Amino acid sequence: MNAEDIKVDEATKRQLIEKAIEVLPNSYAPYSNYNVGAAALFDSGKIYTGVNVENATYGAAICAERNAIFRAAAEGERRLLALAVTGGPKGEIEDEYCAPCGICRQVMREFADPESMLVISAKSPDDYREYTLAELLPESFGPEFLG
Ligand code: THU
Repeated sequence: MNAEDIKVDEATKRQLIEKAIEVLPNSYAPYSNYNVGAAALFDSGKIYTGVNVENATYGAAICAERNAIFRAAAEGERRLLALAVTGGPKGEIEDEYCAPCGICRQVMREFADPESMLVISAKSPDDYREYTLAELLPESFGPEFLG
């Protein structure tokens, strides 16, 4: 299967959001108490989930989005098509559309076509915002710059 065969249709978006919400209780965020879940669709058709995992040495924390992407990369995935993220203080996701941080946007850029990759920020499967990666990370630097 390749990227062109996979449609990020409404059902797929819903599935990504549902999976991001499903893993949210696994978020380990005892320091910020801001819980995040993510689900990333790759061109194999598989969806990989991630949560934020914090650390007593604060700088060792990782965001949910990068956790999902790195798990996928470790399985050999290289082409990211869409990612849904959800989160909020104490896991209350109804209050805000969680925005991916700048580092996570750059990590998405490594494995995605910025013009077509979809980033979904969700409060629920029926209440979400969507962007292309290019909208969230304009004029970006990517692997092709290195030849
Ligand atoms: N965080 C994420 O996991 N993803 C985001 O999109 C925003 C922030 C995490 C990092 C940290 O564990 C906590 O949320 C507060 O910044």
